[in-house]
Amino acid sequence: MDQGPIVAGLDVGTTKICALVGESVGDRMDILALGAAPSRGLRKGMVVNIETTVESIIDAVKDAEKASGVEINSVCVGIAGGHIKSFESYGAVGIRGREVSKDDVDRALEAAKAVYVPLDREVLHVIPVEYVIDGQDGIMNPVGMSGVRLEARVQIVTGSVSAVQNLIRCCEKAGLQVVDIVLEPLASALSTLTDDEKAEGVVLVDIGGGTTDIAFYKSGVLTHTSVIAVGGNHVTNDLAIGLRLPVQEAERVKKLYGMAVAGLGNKDEQVRIMVAGRDEKTIPRSYITEIIQPRCEELIEIVKNELKKVGAQDEASYGIVLTGGGSQLSGLDRMAEVMLGLPVRVGTPVNVGGIKNIVSDPMYATGVGLLIYAAQTEVPPVNYGDLFGNILKKMKDWVRGFLRR
Ligand SMILES: Nc1ncnc2c1ncn2[C@@H]1O[C@H](COP(=O)(O)OP(=O)(O)OP(=O)(O)O)[C@@H](O)[C@H]1O
Ligand SMILES: [Mg+2]
Repeated sequence: MDQGPIVAGLDVGTTKICALVGESVGDRMDILALGAAPSRGLRKGMVVNIETTVESIIDAVKDAEKASGVEINSVCVGIAGGHIKSFESYGAVGIRGREVSKDDVDRALEAAKAVYVPLDREVLHVIPVEYVIDGQDGIMNPVGMSGVRLEARVQIVTGSVSAVQNLIRCCEKAGLQVVDIVLEPLASALSTLTDDEKAEGVVLVDIGGGTTDIAFYKSGVLTHTSVIAVGGNHVTNDLAIGLRLPVQEAERVKKLYGMAVAGLGNKDEQVRIMVAGRDEKTIPRSYITEIIQPRCEELIEIVKNELKKVGAQDEASYGIVLTGGGSQLSGLDRMAEVMLGLPVRVGTPVNVGGIKNIVSDPMYATGVGLLIYAAQTEVPPVNYGDLFGNILKKMKDWVRGFLRR
């Protein structure tokens, strides 16, 4: 089976930062290592504190290096946040009755890219939606076809220059070269959606800590993407305020007892919570649901409005695939099914090998997707082999330092 290069991905999330190392083997991505660290420098998917973000990146990368024996010096990094915008564009070139070549396709894409983008925004992706040759639309691969005029319809994804630069700066300060920046919902879709789902119509909804990312696929291509600045942390914060708990305990209570919809469990069930980190208190489990249900409904309502805007509710025959840690809240999938009127499933990375049991979690959909993206786009592989040289050098320096004392 075809063995690809070893690649690395860095998911800089609002609640956790994880570094993954993988090797593509045919259609499968073998995950060699996963290093994770709590994220402390992001708000709503954007870097707000460079120093603490750099520290977390270093911790996550070190973990992954140790576990894989691979030195990570270049990464494919994910980006999200409310600053992400996408719009459609189109470009056309003449082909004078010849066969369309790869160069012609590139020229048409360049022409589609030549749109006004404000100075404070940067183009992250130009995603072909379809090609049109002499009025015939719906062409996915025009190379080899003939005609007079080739048109490309694309989705252009842009992000704020400062958000992109801050992310790159964090990676560089952590000693990493950023080889590509990938929109996070795109990465999550790569690892969890099947080709059938993308062809027939499906919406990926990644519910993270600070943001909820949406990607709508139809006819095999991404037709819309957006980022909502609400995520699982809002649910935790509501619980912390409603029950007067420290955020850490609210997080524990949410994961253990949280339910998005009333009436799922035993309605008389009582649970124990820690108030102010010392006193235990017994409360009905239904109190927790009463506090978090409105926030969950609000989130699904915002998703519904986004889907309405682009007609996805009518066109997504395969419904919704939920990823991200927030999708694990008990009953949220059922609530989404009822409110959106579409089938809903929780997605985990597919076609993975290696430490499969660890990454088979909706929370790692983005990280695994970054590896798949890196392998597909021929991103330069990470260096391995130097790691042991570096460890030796570090040991020599340490011995020298020790002798000098
Ligand atoms: N079992 C669970 N039940 C409920 N919520 C959960 C569970 N596990 C994780 N979460 C929530 O998932 C969220 C974190 O998800 P994830 O790791 O996907 O976010 P992130 O990638 O760090 O953030 P973002 O993508 O928004 O920048 C947190 O709000 C956490 O409380
Ligand atoms: Mg995330």
